Amino acid sequence: MTLAPRSEFPLLAGNPDLCYLDSAATSQKPRAVLDAMRAYYEHDNANPHRGAYELSVRATDRYQESRDRIARFLGVPDSATLIFTRGTTESLNLVAAAWGRANVRAGDGIVITGLEHHANFVPWQQLALEKGATLRICDLTPTGEIDLDCLTGLLDARTRIVAFNHVSNALGSINPVREIATLVRERCGAIIVCDGAQSAPHFPVRFDALGVDFYAFSGHKMLGPMGIGGLVGRRSLLERMGPYQTGGDMIESVLDDRTTWNVLPHKFEAGTPNVAGAVGLAAAVDYLDGLGMDRVAEHERLILEAAIGSLGELEGVHVLGPPVSRRSGVVSFVVDEIHPHDLATVLDQQGVCVRAGHHCAQPLMRRLGVPATTRASFYVYTDVSDVVRLAEGIARAQAMFASPSAPRR
Ligand code: ALA
Repeated sequence: MTLAPRSEFPLLAGNPDLCYLDSAATSQKPRAVLDAMRAYYEHDNANPHRGAYELSVRATDRYQESRDRIARFLGVPDSATLIFTRGTTESLNLVAAAWGRANVRAGDGIVITGLEHHANFVPWQQLALEKGATLRICDLTPTGEIDLDCLTGLLDARTRIVAFNHVSNALGSINPVREIATLVRERCGAIIVCDGAQSAPHFPVRFDALGVDFYAFSGHKMLGPMGIGGLVGRRSLLERMGPYQTGGDMIESVLDDRTTWNVLPHKFEAGTPNVAGAVGLAAAVDYLDGLGMDRVAEHERLILEAAIGSLGELEGVHVLGPPVSRRSGVVSFVVDEIHPHDLATVLDQQGVCVRAGHHCAQPLMRRLGVPATTRASFYVYTDVSDVVRLAEGIARAQAMFASPSAPRR
């Protein structure tokens, strides 16, 4: 059984044979999200904040209501501390640029982990290079989880930033965010940045209980549209930070020789905002709340158990990462003698969509000692039958590649 009916997702309803197992990359969208965006454009569309006319006021209201709604969903008490961005990548770059450039000095430390997506790796690497700071990369355990002993050893009085993901996009490992945040606060005064791209969609998240300073997320992975996401930050930090981009709406006053900044959240939202995206994301969190985030997590756990069970029965298939109890709905695996790209191609021929490659996590792949993996990822519309098709597809690929006429790599 799926948790959310496929009939409520037009793309899935229109393609009944499609087995979509790439939700960690992007989720499919329920009709409710598409309808909300269409209704916004058909009835309320104008440029918010600028107009003195009623339609513009309506657009402004839709934008603000969406911010309030998403803030409630993520346990953010003060919705002005939720900045809309294009997604997790932009949110993390915002912190690196606006906080990092102003606060990191030569000789300071920036700590990340070997488990990071490039979006939570490269901005810190580049900041360290620019500032002459030291980038320290925390080791992983053999199951692909953050090694807390190693992390403890990397923290010292000069550590300015600690950044890590809540859930690994490549392995599904769920990291103990609160425990890590406590550890960091005991050892140093670093800011704590959490990449929540793979947690906000999959289980209940309350920013006010995580103990971190910044939390970044993407709408398109949580049933919302592409091009909208957010950064939640502590008000005291956001207020002291300068802007990330400059332009319209983010100013208080512009003199010939200087500019002063608007209040939160507008200081960080230069230019015409993505109102329809925010409206769509608010509809997505309504939909998720309707399902219940506890039930979303439980549903994915059942699918995950079924997937790990089925793949475990196939000889030559090796699942990477932690046990189900510490894993979100992601299964990354390698298959003896078949390159992940070849496997994904054969699966695609059978209507099964998986991601193959380094999953924007090349440092992790090096640590795992593999060039690439095949990844199946699940969501509210995934059914156990999808997992059965995945296993059957892999078995078929193994049979094809085992035949004497198959191309060898
Ligand atoms: N970050 C996305 C993924 O893991 C694109 O596939």
